[in-house]
Order: sequence, then structure tokens, then C-alpha cells
Amino acid sequence: MTLNLTPVLFEQLVDGLVEHGWYQWPHAVTDSLCQALLAEAEYHDTQGHLERAGVGRGAIHQINSSIRRDEIKWLDGHTAAQKAYLDQMAELQLQLNRSLFLGLFEYECHFALYKEGGFYKKHLDSFRGRASRMVTTVLYLNPDWQADWGGELLIYKEDSDEKLAVITPQMGKLVVFMSEQIPHEVLPTHKPRASIAGWFRCNASVTGKIDPAK
Ligand code: OGA
Ligand code: MN
Repeated sequence: MTLNLTPVLFEQLVDGLVEHGWYQWPHAVTDSLCQALLAEAEYHDTQGHLERAGVGRGAIHQINSSIRRDEIKWLDGHTAAQKAYLDQMAELQLQLNRSLFLGLFEYECHFALYKEGGFYKKHLDSFRGRASRMVTTVLYLNPDWQADWGGELLIYKEDSDEKLAVITPQMGKLVVFMSEQIPHEVLPTHKPRASIAGWFRCNASVTGKIDPAK
């Protein structure tokens, strides 16, 4: 199972990233793979395997439910569905490195479940200067998401409150954006909302600082 990455689509993705810093790609991942991933996320939820998501990394990691309210579990690639998804992201990484010379060298991602009322206020995924998260991906796992269910992803213009896009978390859709550049927000959801948020990282240890993943 490989990514539906035709040369034309890939060119659009690269153009979107270069010109605007973001791109949304409907039906990037097949429904059958999304269903399998969704079943895993739901299973982990019922088994109590999800943890409250925090803000910040390493020593400054903290839970702040006024900023974000979702529950997560990191993928470790131990199921066929996870392997298939991670393979697809590896393919994307290769292609992005070939055409944008980004030097992406690894990918980390987690399931995220927003229960009713869940949200994530406007934020950046990475901060300039000490960024190792270069490119963000979000894959949505929700079949038949309805317009009045909330939970949209808002994409903002760089350094601005101007909204560029309102994106519904529809199954199979992959949103890709530059982690340091694009402020974004998850609006309060009225239904449970499942996704896989991921980051392509460059090797930050070249700066001489220890920069732990996650
Ligand atoms: C994140 C994030 C967006 C989404 O996890 O950092 O911004 O639409 N997620 O789930
Ligand atoms: Mn984010």
C-alpha cells in the first residue's frame, strides 16, 4: 500500500508548501487504512492507553487544559496499519528531501483524540532557531464529518491573526504545513474527533544541543 502521490499531486504539495507554507490533500490515505487506524485509536481509548496531551517538550512539558484538550498515544509501528502509515510518511519524507532539500531525517507521530468539547488554541508546533520539527502532518480519521460538528482546523497566515483556511477533519485528508511558520488552531469539537499528528524532524543535535524527540 503506497501513498497516492502522483507527480502532479506532489508538485501541488510542493508548490503549496513553498508559496503558502501549507497544503491540504483530500484522500491522501485510503479509507481502509484510515478505518484500521481509527479502530486502533478507539481501542487504546477504551483500554485507557491514551494520555492527556501537554504543551512544551522535555523539562518544560506541562499539561495545560486551557490551551489544549486532547489525549494522545505515540505510534510505534508495531501493527500492520501503523507500519503502512509510517511507510507512506517515509516515502513523503524522501520526496520532500529530494525536491526541497529540507534534510528531514526522522518522523514521529501520535494518535490524538479530542472528546466532545476538545480544542487546541492557536499555536506554532516549533519555534524558530531551535526548531527540529520542520514539517507537520495531520491525518484525519473521521468518516462523514458533518459541517455543524465543529472541530475544524484553522490555518493562519504567518505572524498574523488572518485566517487562511478552515479545514474539516474528514477521513483520509492529510494536511501538511511548515511547523515554524504556520500558526493553527483546533476549534472546539462537538463530536469525538480522531487524527494522527506527526512531525518530520531535522537533526537538531548539529547545533550541539541535546534535543529529545517528543
Ligand atoms: C497538533 C495540532 C491539529 C489537528 O497536534 O499540534 O495542531 O487538526 N493538531 O488535529
Ligand atoms: Mn499543532
